[in-house]
Amino acid sequence: MRDGGARLEVGEPGGDADRYGDGEPYGSESLVRPAADEPERAAEAALRPRRLEEFVGQRVVRDQLSLVLQAALGRGLAPDHVLLSGPPGLGKTTLAMIIAAELGASLRVTSGPAIQHAGDLAAVLSSLEEGEVLFIDEIHRLARPAEELLYVAMEDFRVDVIVGKGAGASAIPLSLPPFTVVGATTRAGLLPAPLRDRFGFTGHLDFYADDELERVLVRSAGLLGVPLEGTAAAEIASRSRGTPRIANRLLRRVRDWAQVRGDGRLSLAAARSALQVYEVDERGLDRLDRSVLDALCRRFGGGPVGLTTLAVAVGEEPETVETVAEPFLVREGLIGRTSRGRVALPPAWEHLGLPVPAPSDTLFG
Ligand SMILES: Nc1ncnc2c1ncn2[C@@H]1O[C@H](COP(=O)(O)OP(=O)(O)O)[C@@H](O)[C@H]1O
Ligand SMILES: [Mg+2]
Repeated sequence: MRDGGARLEVGEPGGDADRYGDGEPYGSESLVRPAADEPERAAEAALRPRRLEEFVGQRVVRDQLSLVLQAALGRGLAPDHVLLSGPPGLGKTTLAMIIAAELGASLRVTSGPAIQHAGDLAAVLSSLEEGEVLFIDEIHRLARPAEELLYVAMEDFRVDVIVGKGAGASAIPLSLPPFTVVGATTRAGLLPAPLRDRFGFTGHLDFYADDELERVLVRSAGLLGVPLEGTAAAEIASRSRGTPRIANRLLRRVRDWAQVRGDGRLSLAAARSALQVYEVDERGLDRLDRSVLDALCRRFGGGPVGLTTLAVAVGEEPETVETVAEPFLVREGLIGRTSRGRVALPPAWEHLGLPVPAPSDTLFG
């Protein structure tokens, strides 16, 4: 058994920010975006469950993973490589750390974007010690040559070190001790099949139910030492978009409100007032989300309207509307994407407090 401590190798975990709008005008001011920026990761580290039994929800993945890990421990061998897939903020990085902790192994952390050249990966791989866990975040963003190097390393525990240049270059095979790759991806579909096939176990993380988010919040409040009332936990959970990262973030903002403008208690009233200040509504929509709905319903009669037109109406780039606002609106059944453009679905009208148009007035008539 080793120390179980995490060592930082290359880059930082959890860098799925650029694709989900953090850094965009909206990403930085909105509380309900699923990606984390650098300062937030520090706050998150304190709230991460350390062991599998502390990890809330995701029962299927937890059960399966627990079997894989116990079996490996029983045999005294490194377990199969593990792929974790799912949207940002659901616990992939946390699970990678838990895997290492459960194995009593040390963890090396890198990510697809941090590896610029195959040589960077070769250097990491050739320094691995027996039984170590190598966490590769955003593994779908590895460059092709690095990916190919990784297949071989995962399958045969070997890297070919290239010595020399040009015609005189030769590959010297270097054998590696057994280790376990834990890959995380928000886009399992982008992983080439040969790489996907090297993983003996794939766990898909799904959005959390509200009662699970409540448990996440109660646990976090305990760690932060703040008095969170049950009704407030339920209120925050219901606005957190099924995402623990968002739940923890809202909790911190409610705590701020309670401290500065309230009496320190995280009550239902404090939660509601705080989230009103931050413009996160009852369904977890923020200002951009609501202005998209508003434009779609009030200006365009429910659509269909093209993405570019819609984006101009809300004063944002089409890409921001498409990647930042739309995924959740579509998931919630508020808007639909059709070949003729975006349409408002009945819950969108209801959410804005507008009468739902008769079916004959809409695309679906
Ligand atoms: N199942 C869970 N139980 C408790 N906290 C969780 C859970 N999943 C995620 N979190 C918390 O949410 C935050 C984001 O999780 P993280 O593992 O970084 O997500 P991802 O890597 O999938 O983007 C962390 O602070 C973590 O503690
Ligand atoms: Mg992560």
